[in-house]
Amino acid sequence: MAMDVKLTTQPLLKSTDDAVAIFFLKDHIKTNNVAQKFPPELKTLLQAVIGECEFTAEPDQCIPVHTKTNPRLILLIGCGEKAKFNLERMRLALSTAMKAANNLNVKNLAVSITAPDLQAQEVVTSLAETAHLCTYRFDKYKSEKKPFKLQSLVLADAPENEFKQLTEALNIGNVLGSLARETRELVNTPPDICTPDYFAELSKKLGKEYGFKVTIYDKKELEKMDMQGILHVGAGGSNPPCMVVAEYKNGKGKKTAFVGKGVCFDSGGLDIKPANGMDTMKLDKAGACTVIHTIAGCAKLGLKGHFIGIMPMVENMPGSSAYKPGEIIVTRSKKTIEILNTDAEGRVILSDALFYASEQKPDYIVDVATLTGACVVALGNSVAGLMGNNQEIISKIKNAAAKRYERVWELPMDDDYYEMIKSEFGDVKNVVSNTPGGGAGTITAAKFLEVFVGGTPWAHLDIAGPAWAVQEKGYFSSGATGFGLRLLLQTAIDLSD
Ligand code: BES
Ligand code: MN
Ligand code: ZN
Repeated sequence: MAMDVKLTTQPLLKSTDDAVAIFFLKDHIKTNNVAQKFPPELKTLLQAVIGECEFTAEPDQCIPVHTKTNPRLILLIGCGEKAKFNLERMRLALSTAMKAANNLNVKNLAVSITAPDLQAQEVVTSLAETAHLCTYRFDKYKSEKKPFKLQSLVLADAPENEFKQLTEALNIGNVLGSLARETRELVNTPPDICTPDYFAELSKKLGKEYGFKVTIYDKKELEKMDMQGILHVGAGGSNPPCMVVAEYKNGKGKKTAFVGKGVCFDSGGLDIKPANGMDTMKLDKAGACTVIHTIAGCAKLGLKGHFIGIMPMVENMPGSSAYKPGEIIVTRSKKTIEILNTDAEGRVILSDALFYASEQKPDYIVDVATLTGACVVALGNSVAGLMGNNQEIISKIKNAAAKRYERVWELPMDDDYYEMIKSEFGDVKNVVSNTPGGGAGTITAAKFLEVFVGGTPWAHLDIAGPAWAVQEKGYFSSGATGFGLRLLLQTAIDLSD
């Protein structure tokens, strides 16, 4: 169930909420700004507990203190050293507090937005997004659900003179957090349910709900449009491919095309994956799920500008009609792709989607894709690979990434990497070689994509690592993380300013 996040100018203790959480820095355990304002009897109680329990304010330490007055419960939450304190530490502290409150059957929790050296608007946005993220779990298919008991979070101590800006910051946080949740839910939706058609129908529904235009290009139309990259990859699946285009326009302003890889299931195709590489491959539509919810966010926030979402949707399956190694595909751009491995399918569908994006003559193209296992090797499960042909859009993405703590790391895009994907019989080949050891698989995939953007300023995010969490941690539940939604929506917000 969705979380209700409220903002109030009331001081923390005036709230009639069941519980409050106080964030402590190691440096200020005895002189905590928030606790200093407590009445003497509560102060004495807290001091006693802090001593008895050896509360040291280690990150994510959590001590519940039951009282005889209001609030009935005070959670002491550790935030570590002041020198290392930042918005992300605060997000993690809130996650710890909300999960603890839930386990103690609390319905309403209040926290103060007062934080040393952090800007109040940023605190409010970050706490609100976290409230939605840390209370999500994928339990649709659990016959015994454990519903989240915690229903609302109150953000207290908002200064009167900033209330208007802070209400806007709260709204942005609510949109970022709830859409990231929806992104997770769609990525988590099993591959027999979330087929290309299902994704298209859901997109139309979202378009009606949020107020943006959705056009579906089905298989017949893709044929007319010479989208042979998408058609070839989609040929092996019994659920036909399609392309979803979503559009939100409000006034003048920059035109940005977001392109998302939508492989509803990646079996590898004829170059079939082993069991331990295939069991999470419903995640391969994470890029498309991110993009459709980004456009929904642009509409919900009424951002100024022109935002287009382009989502090629396929299943990559083996079978007698599947595409084969050795085929040379003439894409919509007329450039040809020699297929050497059917498991490098993402770049093949993106070739048509990116070219189509460039035909819309946008100011920027940003694509997001679970593209390469090599990116997981290089950067692990928390950081996305960032590449592109234009430093302006790349640096906008870096800025947005820092704001939302969806981390990115830029990889080089020098011309010698392009040499590696030149094809003997076509223009480009979809893998460097089937003999392992060539290296730089994430970069060569990006150099392949670059061929199809036709010089449009472009950035590419490889989210193969951070799209999925193997276990619950901080504000992530296990399974889909929704990584990329907050990053792209923040980028859209920054572009509209
Ligand atoms: N969808 C995968 C990439 C992937 C791997 C995403 C692990 C998330 C986690 C992609 O389509 C793929 O199979 N890539 C191949 C490319 C190779 C054949 C050049 C890979 O990474 O092994
Ligand atoms: Mn693949
Ligand atoms: Zn894939």
